[in-house]
Parts: sequence; C-alpha cells; structure tokens
Amino acid sequence: MIVCLCHRISDRDIQVAVKSGTASFDELQDDLRVATACGCCRDSALEVFSACACSGASSGAAPAASACH
Ligand code: FES
Repeated sequence: MIVCLCHRISDRDIQVAVKSGTASFDELQDDLRVATACGCCRDSALEVFSACACSGASSGAAPAASACH
C-alpha cells in the first residue's frame, strides 16, 4: 500500500527501513523523504512506522523504544 504519494513510499518501504535500523521517524524522513512534501501522509506514515518499530523489527538489535508508548 502506498503511504506517501508524493514520494511513492509504501508501507513495505517503511517496514524495510525499520528492519535495517531506522530508529526514529526523523531518521525515516531523512532516509525516505516520507511526509516531507505536502505532509498529508504524516499521520499514516507515523502509524506504520510505530507499528513496525514496535513489532516488526525483532530481527536482532532492538530498536529504540521511544516509538512504543
Ligand atoms: S503524500 Fe507524503 S508528503 Fe505528500
């Protein structure tokens, strides 16, 4: 599913970024540029990022727990 139409970023792209060590939403924005144009996708992108950071990135080093409230 495409989350960010401006940069054509999918939920899978976000998932891959989290699994490869992206630990914060700011870092995700630096890497993928998600939510850096019109900003419409910010809430959705944040939701996907939080879900991935909390549950999907258990392949070794734990991500920063700051995204899991
Ligand atoms: S849809 Fe993501 S910045 Fe516009």
